[in-house]
Amino acid sequence: MPAQQDGFATRAVHSGSRPGRAQGATTTPIYASAGFAYETAAELEDVFAGHKPGHIYSRISNPTVAAYEERLAAVENGRGAIATASGMAALATVIMTLTRAGDRIVSNASLFGGTRRLFTALMSRYELEVVYIDLDREGELEAALNDRTRFVYLEAIGNPKLDVPDIPAVAETVHAAGIPLVVDSTLTTPFMLDAHQVGADLVLHSTTKFISGHGNSIGGALIDTGRFNWGEFPDPDLGKASSLVGKELAFLYTARQLVVQSLGNLASAFDAYLQSMGIETLGLRMERHCSNALSLARALENHPGVAAVNYPGLASSPWHETAERLYRPHYGALLSLRLGTRERAFALINALRLPKQIANLGDCKTLVIHPGSTIYHDHSADVLEASGVHDDLVRVSVGIETVDDLIADFTQALDRL
Ligand SMILES: Cc1ncc(COP(=O)(O)O)c(C=O)c1O
Repeated sequence: MPAQQDGFATRAVHSGSRPGRAQGATTTPIYASAGFAYETAAELEDVFAGHKPGHIYSRISNPTVAAYEERLAAVENGRGAIATASGMAALATVIMTLTRAGDRIVSNASLFGGTRRLFTALMSRYELEVVYIDLDREGELEAALNDRTRFVYLEAIGNPKLDVPDIPAVAETVHAAGIPLVVDSTLTTPFMLDAHQVGADLVLHSTTKFISGHGNSIGGALIDTGRFNWGEFPDPDLGKASSLVGKELAFLYTARQLVVQSLGNLASAFDAYLQSMGIETLGLRMERHCSNALSLARALENHPGVAAVNYPGLASSPWHETAERLYRPHYGALLSLRLGTRERAFALINALRLPKQIANLGDCKTLVIHPGSTIYHDHSADVLEASGVHDDLVRVSVGIETVDDLIADFTQALDRL
């Protein structure tokens, strides 16, 4: 077992691993079992009552998923984790655990389109108030907080705007208001962002992306960094959980027992297995993703056919200074290009040889998409503006290919426009 002071790569490889000892396996087996059998009625009664540890039914917990959750918590240096069926399922779990009708969520406006869609649906259907702010505008966060605000939400690097919020500064304001900060670290991953250290209370991932790493699995993760005192959170269910299991575990307990168990959005054993394997090579892949993205961004910035390159690692990014302070020397694998017109953006996508055109990111392969006509096709002009989605924008999720091949491919495609 790794120790807490071990480095990221050591924890990534050695944590949360429960090989089948009898067979000498080196990876955690996939426990494909819907439920778990016990010898005596008293034993199962004890497990149900929480007096004895054990798995009951794979909608609530599963040994493969539990080992993966242990690994997620270890790489985040968190108190514990819940592996969900998707990134959206992780977000739904946070919302359902922390809010009730009439409550307010304050969110940075630069968001993944699906997150924005869920927030909007909840506003109209369940009377939740979601207030969007621009964290780059001084005073907007403070002005949006009121006594019904249950959490503040942001993406560590915004998808697809590529803005970089100053998380420690945001955390200070949020904590002064006595509420938790929830950070979507999908684009940064635990390799780039030590969420606990910068002040996040809950971290969320679409593990579909870099954590899985190979575009072969959908998943999400929710990690409690252990900073927030849930005993002081103003909700009766968390209050009850605090008296039952202690304030340290109250969030994770409530999220699993109240929401995941009822919603049925836990990760499957097979997906947990794939994503757990992904964590073992996350650091290596992220180093390559990030260095490839920086080289490609620099090369594209000098091409006369590109109107603008957005990448936090470039000095031209308005968020470069914050990115330097929080993430140097890694700036993520996502960049975007402006081509001048939608026609040129489409033509670039059609002329590329290597990248796949896919509504995903974080694959080993380079992926491209025109967000305006796809992920954001049904969003209003205001949302497009807040998310940095222009009609001439192409988003690139830079893979781990030989970077010279990527630069040559983008160059030949741009030369043909
Ligand atoms: C930043 C971010 N958060 C959350 C999600 C949702 O994750 P999933 O697609 O796994 O539900 C995505 C998906 O693209 C994303 O990019």
